[in-house]
Amino acid sequence: MIGIIGAMRVETESLKAKLTNKKSEVICGVEYVSGELSGKSVVVAQCGIGKVFAAICAQTMILRYGVSALINTGVAGTLSEKIGVLDFAISTAVVQHDMDTSALGDLPGLISGINIVEIPASKSLSETACRLATLQGNKCAEGIIASGDQFINNAEKKNWIRDTFGAIACEMEGAAIGHVCYVSGVDFVVIRCISDNASGGADMEYPELVGIAAVRSQKLVEAIVREIG
Ligand code: ADE
Repeated sequence: MIGIIGAMRVETESLKAKLTNKKSEVICGVEYVSGELSGKSVVVAQCGIGKVFAAICAQTMILRYGVSALINTGVAGTLSEKIGVLDFAISTAVVQHDMDTSALGDLPGLISGINIVEIPASKSLSETACRLATLQGNKCAEGIIASGDQFINNAEKKNWIRDTFGAIACEMEGAAIGHVCYVSGVDFVVIRCISDNASGGADMEYPELVGIAAVRSQKLVEAIVREIG
């Protein structure tokens, strides 16, 4: 079974609507909808916004549904000149940009205990995702995706995340899902369609584009599940 996690309703509803032989249960306030997508077994959940909700959901999918891989779908802000709004960022690795024990001499983003900054995503899932995104007519970049419990909306913070971690996109859940997968030995990939430039200002595109970007990301997830599930 493959687990699919999105933070917001708009990031999961079109996939949930496509499931057949649906079953649903609520655990700790999150609804898990399992069934078949293109004939493949999946469980889909809207986890809520932020790293803690994402981790709760990922661990539940692993322990209760025994998922063999987790896909995080949704929208993100771009940190790279190579990708703009409605293009795709696919994770080769994820980082937690707000994890900071640098006062103790650690590198920014170091996750104590597992002692790494970058959590590697599944190479084969990332390659498949980018290939299928391109086949669907999208521009796609593979690279590091940075997560933190903040909506990034100013150039200074955006540039700091890009320059410190070499990240191509920012969002709020992927690295928490990656963290859970890492300690659980489960493959994962983060798939994000760009909804904004993460730099604020008068030309904030997010409200206009979030719906379109979220649906595009789910369309790509469907193609990936069809190929790998
Ligand atoms: N999700 C979409 N855009 C984002 C941004 N700019 N910061 C954090 N999460 C996001």
